[in-house]
Amino acid sequence: MRILFIGDIVGKPGRDIVCQAVEGLVREQRLDLVVANAENAAGGSGITPAIYRELTRAGVDAITLGDHIYRRKEIYSTLEKESNIVKPGNLPPESVGREWAVVRARNGVDVAVSCFLGQLFMKPVNSPWSAADRVLSQIPSDVRVRFVDFHAEATSEMQLMGRYLDGRVTAVLGTHTHVPTADECILPEGTAFQCDVGMTGPHESILGRRIDRVMETTLTGLPTEFEVATGDLRINGAIVECDPETGRATQITRLRVTESDLPRLENLVKIAAPN
Ligand SMILES: [Fe+2]
Ligand SMILES: [Fe+2]
Repeated sequence: MRILFIGDIVGKPGRDIVCQAVEGLVREQRLDLVVANAENAAGGSGITPAIYRELTRAGVDAITLGDHIYRRKEIYSTLEKESNIVKPGNLPPESVGREWAVVRARNGVDVAVSCFLGQLFMKPVNSPWSAADRVLSQIPSDVRVRFVDFHAEATSEMQLMGRYLDGRVTAVLGTHTHVPTADECILPEGTAFQCDVGMTGPHESILGRRIDRVMETTLTGLPTEFEVATGDLRINGAIVECDPETGRATQITRLRVTESDLPRLENLVKIAAPN
């Protein structure tokens, strides 16, 4: 079976390209499940209930989050009641949201989804290592396909998480740096791994924000508003192929969708739709 993971969706430009592309990608890439990190989906930081609905209606089956999870507090109720959106598993246990979700893929297979925050160069959080052990022990043992988003800054820590969970999960894919790494691989015990799948949104930017604003603040020290940029929209992600019986990954492929791909993808949807 084939699972697409979409990296950090940034602002409206990021949502727009996801909404335009996902249905076509599901057809073209024969996807059974689409998971996306949406921690930056609301104006570049956080997520709202309306955006949750927008993304899930567009075909995103499960949502992971990161350090910006609670930036918009309207999302608390969604985190409490919806079954396909997860908080990082190493936030305080008192924080709002579920630590893992099981979602049914288009081929009928149940897939567990969770995410964790890194500790290096990040705000202090609980150990992602013990949190991963705890979360994995709670997921029903018959759910063999297990997907982990490791939201972290340092490639060393990401590589360690890949090795730590190798053979215990189907995929450990990174988010948070917003820059895709060219290290996708299947680890020795059958876990698909990539340090960071990259971000989804405007790439004529500094990690999704307007270049001039970030430049000004950096050069002068004066605060500006880091508005979400608008140019060169792309989806960055990875497609993991795995055996639904064992949960072992057999292949991982980086995915990049640009605006020039949209007519082709939208056409696929039109052809498939009855008049
Ligand atoms: Fe992010
Ligand atoms: Fe982040």
